[in-house]
Amino acid sequence: MANNNNHKVHPHAFWNESTRIVHGSQNADPLHGGLNAPLHLSTSFKWNSVEDDGGYEYSRTANPTRTVLEEQLAQLENGLYCSTQSTGMAAATAVAHLFKQGDHVIITEDCYGGVFRLFNDVIRNFGVEVSFINLKDLDTVEAAIQPNTKCIWAESPTNPLLRLVDINALSTIANSAEALLVLDNTFCSPILQKPLDLGAHIVVHSLSKYVNGHSDVLGGAVITSDKKIGEQIHFLTNALGIGLPAFDSWLILRGIKTLKVRYHHQQKTAQKVAEWLSNQSKVKRVIYPGLTSHPDHELAKRQQQGFGAVISFEVEKGTHGAKTVAESTEVCTLAESLGGVSTLIEIPAFHSHASMEESARIKAGINDGLLRLSVGLEAPEDIIHDLNQALSKIDLDPINVELNGFVHHEVHAPVAQ
Ligand SMILES: Cc1ncc(COP(=O)(O)O)c(C=O)c1O
Repeated sequence: MANNNNHKVHPHAFWNESTRIVHGSQNADPLHGGLNAPLHLSTSFKWNSVEDDGGYEYSRTANPTRTVLEEQLAQLENGLYCSTQSTGMAAATAVAHLFKQGDHVIITEDCYGGVFRLFNDVIRNFGVEVSFINLKDLDTVEAAIQPNTKCIWAESPTNPLLRLVDINALSTIANSAEALLVLDNTFCSPILQKPLDLGAHIVVHSLSKYVNGHSDVLGGAVITSDKKIGEQIHFLTNALGIGLPAFDSWLILRGIKTLKVRYHHQQKTAQKVAEWLSNQSKVKRVIYPGLTSHPDHELAKRQQQGFGAVISFEVEKGTHGAKTVAESTEVCTLAESLGGVSTLIEIPAFHSHASMEESARIKAGINDGLLRLSVGLEAPEDIIHDLNQALSKIDLDPINVELNGFVHHEVHAPVAQ
């Protein structure tokens, strides 16, 4: 856990963020001066004496490579305490264990499907009351507050509908209810948004996405400036046995060095792709905060340092049209996840949000025909060309009728190619 008991201001706090990202782990090898943090694979560490562990004892509790990453993440989020976990869901699990039987938590209704499943199918069984509501409507949020409400859990932007919440306004409501505001910052990464500065009490990350960025490590993080919460999360991470392994920490430290350039490049391409999609006759709706048509465009300009690199869109012919596109692309790979260097395409109802109850999914507005595109580092013209050829495969022939969103298989031609 970063700066567990004696947080010190980083000696290079005045450096630009770009510089700190590159140099963040550079002083981690005072013995040899290595440019990268050493990888400590030891699970056990020699004690100086019976009562002095010298800083590390057992890697489930803490590991020197993991500490370097935690210090860097705490800094990037302008927080004081960070604990890292084996996945983003493990990070959410650690925070969920702050609540006990009889407590009430409010969660955004269009949250990531795995977070929905965790609270709906697991945490509820421990006697924690859970309400999934639309956090955009602040009156609804106020009305949902109960005397036992301990937390408001938000994502901004949400996965996959890319709705933003006013973090500052939610923080005011949370403070007056003496509840915690938890903000899942996975989609923005610390490059685009620093929720602790906007009033959130806890930031949660799936490091598996932008922070690592290469689709080769799973990881999660919880960051806060509250000492008590920081210590509780560190305790829970150890007690639940869900800490981030050393090698994964090392890989994420490597990925993080290019986070800012990757992210800026990806969102520049995303803007071009979103604008192109908006002009296609077979595309019914494009959701991207960088478009002036997005209802939260102004909030995004105010609250974020950019518009992100995920686009959601709907095409003609509902589910059939979406499947046709997802199965026809070549540059955009049909795969779950987001935030990596490769462009990925998926249908949330079948992939990232399949773990959400259908009724909850429909209520949140995630219909079966919605596609999600995580824009990577490929050339924008290749992504556009690929989407263009995939869209051209949508069969607008009136014989292939959809009934209530479902393809009438008897009369329909094969979906792909
Ligand atoms: C917004 C958000 N939070 C949390 C998670 C869970 O992260 P992980 O897959 O690393 O467990 C995801 C995964 O897609 C996500 O999109």
